[in-house]
Amino acid sequence: MRHKVNEMEKRILIVDDDEKIGSIVSRRLTLEGFSWVTARNGREALQYFQKENFSLIISDIKMPEMNGLELLKEVKALDQKMVVVMMTAYPEIDLAVAAMHAGAYDFIIKPFDLDLAVFSIRKGLEKRKLEEEIESYHLHLEKLVEEKTERLRGALSALRKSNLDTVKVLVGAIDAKDPHTRGHADRVREICLKIGMKSGFNGEKLEGLEYGALLHDIGKLGIKDKILQKQTPLTPEEYRHIQEHPLIGVRILEGIDFFRNQIFMVRHHHERFDGGGYPDQLAGKEIPLEARIISVADAFDAMTSTRPHRSKRTLEDTFIEMEKERGKHFDPDILDIFLRENFCDLTPESVPDKKCSMPERNWKTSFPQPQAEWSYGCPPGFK
Ligand SMILES: [Fe+2]
Repeated sequence: MRHKVNEMEKRILIVDDDEKIGSIVSRRLTLEGFSWVTARNGREALQYFQKENFSLIISDIKMPEMNGLELLKEVKALDQKMVVVMMTAYPEIDLAVAAMHAGAYDFIIKPFDLDLAVFSIRKGLEKRKLEEEIESYHLHLEKLVEEKTERLRGALSALRKSNLDTVKVLVGAIDAKDPHTRGHADRVREICLKIGMKSGFNGEKLEGLEYGALLHDIGKLGIKDKILQKQTPLTPEEYRHIQEHPLIGVRILEGIDFFRNQIFMVRHHHERFDGGGYPDQLAGKEIPLEARIISVADAFDAMTSTRPHRSKRTLEDTFIEMEKERGKHFDPDILDIFLRENFCDLTPESVPDKKCSMPERNWKTSFPQPQAEWSYGCPPGFK
């Protein structure tokens, strides 16, 4: 690795096949406080250059073995920043242009004024020093940006953790109000993440879905405990009260800026694909994709969970029920993704010897008859 100009002695490589010129230049450079090495042609100069560090090269053009232009090209290939001053006793415009194109810093004509040569050398060294200072400044800036970015990443990570902790506290409050649905939000989150990833979600969008899934039932904080914990089927009036929870959830989240992107998921997670859901009776793709995903995950977990007034469904019955709701309650595309995945390990009470796979049957022709429990227009586990 080559030393920077300000880190090393100002050492000049003088290249000329005319020993007299080399001697004149070297004596003057000694007086100016430089150290130097002389070479008699380009090849010898290149050998020195490869072994030692120099701040600048001053080279004749016409030399035996390797001329000054060839040397210039070789040197620039090794060190683009090396300052090379060319000199010639045969001034030709084409030669000067070729040297400047090849990266020469200056071009002086022999016999030259030594003061002029020293001036050119000093200017060349200043240029290189300035370039190195700029490079060092850029490196410093890059390091500074990296450090700041790392600090921001840390702050963002802490903020995310803090937000997740806030969500967990809120979800914990729902679990405390309704112990029968304990763990529901977390299981819905797991299922939504899997469906989301299969749907092409990633980064912030996936994280947004994660928060939405955890918070989807946050509005239940505003539902009366006696209704949430009721041991018998709900009356129509009680069911209407339960149906208020998406809008209550919206009001809760409206006060928290960080969760503004989850509001639409909370609001629409009980919409139905056929337009028969609530609160806005949106249909099909009008329902935000995240809400359609949460709807499938929510229903699966509700149906495979035990409630005070009913027992849980078997996986087979749950899949039959969900298939029956294809295009009615559920977006067919999301349902397909869901049915292709194995979510059996995400049921509330896993049974070790139960085979977790789709039962082998024809889903489209073997639906059970609607049950009396459906009297509120929604499968019993969906509340
Ligand atoms: Fe809900």
